[in-house]
Amino acid sequence: MINIKNKASIRKMEEAGTLLAAIFFEIPVFITAGITTLAIDAWIEKQLIARGLVSKMKGYRGYGHVSCISVNDVVVHGIPNKQVVLQEGDLVKVDVCASWQGYCADMARSFFVGQARLMAHAQLVVVAQNALDKGIEQAIAGNRVSDISAAIQAEVEKHGFGVVRDFAGHGIGKNMHEEPEILNYGRPGQGPLLRPGMAFALEPMITLGKYSVCIDEDGWTVRTRDGNIAAHVEDTIVITDGKPHILTRINRVLA
Ligand code: MF3
Ligand code: CO
Repeated sequence: MINIKNKASIRKMEEAGTLLAAIFFEIPVFITAGITTLAIDAWIEKQLIARGLVSKMKGYRGYGHVSCISVNDVVVHGIPNKQVVLQEGDLVKVDVCASWQGYCADMARSFFVGQARLMAHAQLVVVAQNALDKGIEQAIAGNRVSDISAAIQAEVEKHGFGVVRDFAGHGIGKNMHEEPEILNYGRPGQGPLLRPGMAFALEPMITLGKYSVCIDEDGWTVRTRDGNIAAHVEDTIVITDGKPHILTRINRVLA
């Protein structure tokens, strides 16, 4: 069952999104050579508390941190660690999900430590961002779930990059993960009809090489099998009568 949120619920999700976006604006300051991913997570935790946000990651299936921080070939679900020290040119994906008065927002961004090593790395991030926007564009009442999926896949593959198949976007509300699952690939015109009041976290995960991934012994860390780098971006959106509202951006609608 896909939850339809009322105005009051959406207002709370919107506040969660605004507060989360404010934290993300400050993250680039910490994406610097020599810092550990554990130190970044610790800073994010302080920020969540200071802003009245409650982490939805800490304690989720035994996960111990408030963020996932995934470097280079780690696609998603990288565990903050004091052994992982950022180096110039690294591609760092930061993912945070938190609630405000019981309602969640989920957001991720890809950052470089200084300059990207290769032009292709920089392009990968731009394409991930554009693919997310293409997906958001399709998040309108009357469309179907897979219209979002197909738009994301088309944008990524147009540039010759890979779309990770094993993880997906998702409905969101009181819980971090709700129905439906929103794949980042597929044929358009399939799946549930989109209706005003549905809220989704859209999150393309894209790779420079092949799209297949594997999971480390820790049970969390998701890596590309071929060792190539990956990008990941995520926003929380709400379906309306008109354009989709992006809760995790200051500019709520696409230009
Ligand atoms: N925020 C992630 C997502 O987009 C969830 C990560 S799993 C966790 O679905 F355990 F780390 F929270
Ligand atoms: Co998510």
